[in-house]
Amino acid sequence: MPLDLLSRLKHETAACHVRLENALGLMRDDLQRDQYIALLERFYGYVAPWEDAAAACMPAALAEFFDARRKAPLLAADLAALTGERPQVDPCHDLPRMHNIGGAFGSMYVMEGSTLGGRFIAPHVAERLDLEPGFGNTYFHGYGPRTGSMWNVFRATAESSVPELQFDDAVKTAIATFESLHAWLCPETADAEASPAPGAAS
Ligand code: HEM
Repeated sequence: MPLDLLSRLKHETAACHVRLENALGLMRDDLQRDQYIALLERFYGYVAPWEDAAAACMPAALAEFFDARRKAPLLAADLAALTGERPQVDPCHDLPRMHNIGGAFGSMYVMEGSTLGGRFIAPHVAERLDLEPGFGNTYFHGYGPRTGSMWNVFRATAESSVPELQFDDAVKTAIATFESLHAWLCPETADAEASPAPGAAS
């Protein structure tokens, strides 16, 4: 029996997730405030244009569903709180192409899934950098106690919106999203780690 969409996305992007998680180093005990701010600025430069691009691929019936999940305002608020300045976006121009609704949901899977890791990242960052509650880590705090239910609704909406013929597009676009995000956030590790080691099985 063929795998369902969410199982395919999870399994086929697992290696990308591990590479990005390791490269980000957000769970390090020696995370510094300036490193964290620099990373938030890069996230903002990706998430803000990505949200506009993905919203343009969503059918009108899903506009409310999508808009309720926009996270760029959280990044802007975190940066304003940490720097005392209104943040400027340095936008990423190498976003994944989303050709159909399968591609849009594949890419959105990456962004929505990041809220799951956020449950670990938000408290870690707050503790390491001594942040006041709700000050500077709202992007990673994400949906807070609603994270599980928001994820379940995302999963159900993806399953009911993407036709099986577009599952391959969804997976390809999810991988492309992880790769472009990795290249944007951590360029020093992106190329080396995205290619298989010499002699590795393909
Ligand atoms: C230090 C950084 C990160 C850590 C520690 C982390 C950790 C985790 C954990 C623990 C889960 C599983 C949660 C659960 O099943 O309840 C998860 C899921 C996920 N994360 Fe991350 N994550 C990190 C960064 C990211 C980033 C930057 C992205 C993408 C923007 C991402 C995308 C995902 C996705 C798509 C899933 C869902 C996997 C599934 O289908 O179940 N993560 N992450």
